[in-house]
This record gives sequence, C-alpha cells and structure tokens, in this order.
Amino acid sequence: MKSLVWHGPMDVQIDDKPQPTILHPEDIVLKITSTAICGSDLHLYHGTVPGMMPGQTLGHEFMGIIEEAGPHVTEVKVGDKVVIPFNIACGQCHWCRNNYWSQCDSGNPKAGDLGAAFGFTQLLGGYDGGQAEYVRVPFANANTAVKVPDHIKTDEQVLFLSDILPTGYFATDMANVRPGDDVVVFGAGPVGYFAVMSSFLRGAARVFSVDHWPMRLDKTKDLGAEIINFDDEDPVDFIKKETGGKGAICIDAVGYEAVGHMAGNVSTREGNNIKIQGTDANKGHDHSQVSIPAYQPMNPMQVITWMAQIAKKYSTISIPGVYGSAYDRFPLGLLFNRNVSIHMGQCPVKKYTEQLFHLIETKRIDPTKVISHTMDLKDAPAAYENFDKKEDVLKIVLKP
Ligand SMILES: NC(=O)c1ccc[n+]([C@@H]2O[C@H](COP(=O)([O-])OP(=O)(O)OC[C@H]3O[C@@H](n4cnc5c(N)ncnc54)[C@H](O)[C@@H]3O)[C@@H](O)[C@H]2O)c1
Ligand SMILES: [Zn+2]
Ligand SMILES: [Zn+2]
Repeated sequence: MKSLVWHGPMDVQIDDKPQPTILHPEDIVLKITSTAICGSDLHLYHGTVPGMMPGQTLGHEFMGIIEEAGPHVTEVKVGDKVVIPFNIACGQCHWCRNNYWSQCDSGNPKAGDLGAAFGFTQLLGGYDGGQAEYVRVPFANANTAVKVPDHIKTDEQVLFLSDILPTGYFATDMANVRPGDDVVVFGAGPVGYFAVMSSFLRGAARVFSVDHWPMRLDKTKDLGAEIINFDDEDPVDFIKKETGGKGAICIDAVGYEAVGHMAGNVSTREGNNIKIQGTDANKGHDHSQVSIPAYQPMNPMQVITWMAQIAKKYSTISIPGVYGSAYDRFPLGLLFNRNVSIHMGQCPVKKYTEQLFHLIETKRIDPTKVISHTMDLKDAPAAYENFDKKEDVLKIVLKP
C-alpha cells in the first residue's frame, strides 16, 4: 500500500509498504478515506524531534472505513466510517477514565509514562500513522472519536475532530476563556484558526490573531478576529494599547519553531533590550524609560516572551503549541509578578469530540473553511514542501 514515509530531515517519500493486519483482539484496520498534514508533522519533517526512525509512516489526522476488526472490538464494526483521535489511549487506565486521553499509561510500550500518538517518534510509541492507504488502530473501542452518521455527507466536515478542532478548543479551555474576555491567539495556522473560532464560541468579546502571513491572517479575520502582522507591528504595544494596558488572555498556537525578532522584524526593540515605559522605583515618579535585558532573543522563546508581557493579571496562558526540550531564559519573573499561570500539553482529543461534533452537525461551526488545498496522497511529498512554506497554504487534505 502507498504510505508517506519519513526518511530523514526534509525527506519524506511515498513508499510501498505491506498492508497492516490485526495484531491484538481490540485492533481495527482502517481504510483511509481522508487524512491531513499538521504543524506537528512539520516538526518531524524538519528532524527537530528526537526519536524519529527512518521508515516511520507519518500522519495522525485521519478517518476512514473499518476494513477488519479484532474479536474484542464491540463499539464499532466492519463497514463503519470513523474518525480517530491522534492520541492512542487504552480507555481503561486511571488517566483515560478521567478524560486525560493524552496521558494514557498503557498506550506507549516504548516510553513508560508518556502518552502515545499515531505517526510520531519512538518517544510517543513509534506507531505508524495514517498518511497511507490503511492504518492499524489499537484499542479501537476507546480510540474511536466519532462514528460518522449518514447525514454527514463529506469527510471534510468531521476530519478535523481527529486533532486540530479539539486542540483549538482545548486551548481556550486551558485558558478558561469566558464571556467578555479579550483573547490574543499567537499563530494563525490551523490550530490558531480553531483557537480563534473557539474563543468566540466561548463568548470572547475581542480576539486578536497574530502571525505574519497575510493569507492566514485573512482567514482568522473572516472569523471575526482583529489581526496583527508582527512584521509590521509590535504585538506587545498593540495589545497593550487596544486593551487600555489591561492585557489579554494569551494562547500560543505556534510552539518552539517560532520566528520573531531574531528574524529582525520587530522594530520597536533595540538589540536585546525591551524598553519599559514608566516609573523607576529607585528614582521616584519620573516616568523615565528604563531598559531591562530581554528575556530571550532566540526564536523558541519569542511567543512566550511576548505573552509574559501582555497576559492579563491573574490569567492563564495556554500553550497548545509544541515545546519539546529545555529552554533557557524563561521569563518566570514577569509571570510571577503578574500572578500568571501556564497550562499546556497535548490535547486529550476524545474529551471534546462529542460536543464539537454536535456543533458541526447543527451547522453552528464549519471546520471545512480551514482547508486551502486537497491533494492526492501520492503527491504528499510536494504537499509537505508547500505546507512548510505556509505563505499561501492553511490546511492540506490528502486523499489516498
Ligand atoms: N497540543 C496539541 O495537542 C497540538 C495539536 C496539534 C498541533 N499542535 C502544535 O500547535 C502548533 C501549531 O500547529 P499548526 O498546525 O497551526 O502549525 P503551523 O506551522 O501551520 O502554524 C504555525 C503558525 O505560527 C506562525 N508563527 C511563527 N512564529 C510566530 C510568532 N512569533 N508569532 C505569531 N505567529 C508565529 C507561523 O507563521 C504559522 O502560521 C505546532 O507547534 C503544533 O505542533 C499541538
Ligand atoms: Zn495534528
Ligand atoms: Zn489509558
């Protein structure tokens, strides 16, 4: 069968691999009907995530029709159309029973207490993913997010329940967005897009969307966001001004591959210094400008540094964007001084799928608008190259 296989950094190819089979009585084999490329796949594509092995089939956003089912599969049957969450979870352990699907104790045979996911590194279990014609889904009773009913006419309506729609919603849940809140979403990629949509669903008054690709910003503007191109404006100054200095609830839908003033575009910064306007406590009330060292001129901390300056006091910063390592110069003092908390991690997809599905079937939301391209699976290497450029692309769906 055709599979999109990781061969090394910036090198993915369509290979012919054997079709998967049932290995455990609770497995199903799914014939993929639609699959998508995610920003998380780009981290793997770039080779910046440890534990990638050549030969791994990528893809954790997929749906399809059940081709084969093991004897212990009771919740679904051969012929059903299903959407699968990207987390691989047993449904039985303490974490699964408490809706913490991203932290299952039994899904990952390779790395003890880390959760597992399709099409990721060995660290997350090394399971083959769904950018292929078929995929094996373990723990099928627990790992079916949605059984797609007949009245859902197109895959595209529900495909994103596998990851980015729940992840965008999870971002607003972690941040506890409430009616009347002002929210700033960093990143206008697919996750940022659904974080903007979800902020409005939860009653946000104003949502600011920060990125530097006009096409992506236009898409969040269509949802009602006020857009900030960080090549042209300093998001910190902009948000402070617009909120009367109060700041906003912050969501980081970018992660460690953030670009920023290392790229030389944030004009109001002088070198590594952040100018703080106001009173120097040692000089009295003179409203002079004091300069303090920047927290980090390096790219991975760009969004964190911005958020630490504009997070509303007592708010929770939400980080669905992926961070995979230790990072120096973390602005802990700024966060401490503003009583700010941080909530982050992989989305427990299945916690949200039932309610989000109901919003789709009642036409309250239309996730298909995030799609910019539909391509044949055989063209997936070109699709990766294109998605990586970001400029004129938001979400690519692949058809096997
Ligand atoms: N937590 C989870 O469960 C989960 C699930 C899915 C994706 N993710 C992660 O979410 C992140 C976003 O995913 P995506 O699919 O939208 O990816 P993407 O790469 O398509 O989008 C990221 C966007 O961030 C923008 N960006 C870069 N630097 C920025 C900056 N300094 N300020 C504002 N925007 C900036 C980019 O231009 C791009 O548009 C990735 O890190 C991905 O791995 C996490
Ligand atoms: Zn994803
Ligand atoms: Zn479990």
